[in-house]
Amino acid sequence: MAKLPVIKYGDPILRQKTRPVEDRQQVLDLVDDMFDTMYEEEGMGLAANQINVDLNFMVVDISHTDEDEGPRVIINAEVVESSGSSDLEEGCLSIPEIRATITRPETVLLRYEDEHGQEHEEHFDRLLSRVIQHEVDHLTGIFFTDYLTPAKHSLIDKRLSEIAETGAPSTGIIL
Ligand code: NI
Repeated sequence: MAKLPVIKYGDPILRQKTRPVEDRQQVLDLVDDMFDTMYEEEGMGLAANQINVDLNFMVVDISHTDEDEGPRVIINAEVVESSGSSDLEEGCLSIPEIRATITRPETVLLRYEDEHGQEHEEHFDRLLSRVIQHEVDHLTGIFFTDYLTPAKHSLIDKRLSEIAETGAPSTGIIL
């Protein structure tokens, strides 16, 4: 069991589109440490580039809010369809102490592979949909803060610079 450093806003790897996973063993070698890191940091999802790995996979676990859901490993995810709209407050382990209400599609149809190499097309909604969309964004170089209006984004510009420089903002904020 090992907790890995979480890459923070400002690192170029978080602005890159990750490479497709071709060797599943590379994922299997990392997921235990990724889950440990995510639980330790009290996150619900973690994308591979957040631990400095340029590959398209994520770990997700919302079982503390939905006992029907267990931990998931999601590889080479692609949103095929999305529908509806919902507002929900988001945060991010790479952007500590900044939270904001973000509008996203409510339901997504996701094409992905699991840790056993099985391919899936599965609909997700509610919190799991939200977490997966946030992580798919990470894997394509997008932050939740990118969705803020210019006026709201200006309220966090200084804090984002501070995170890029020191790993944490001088003060937190909820938008
Ligand atoms: Ni995040």
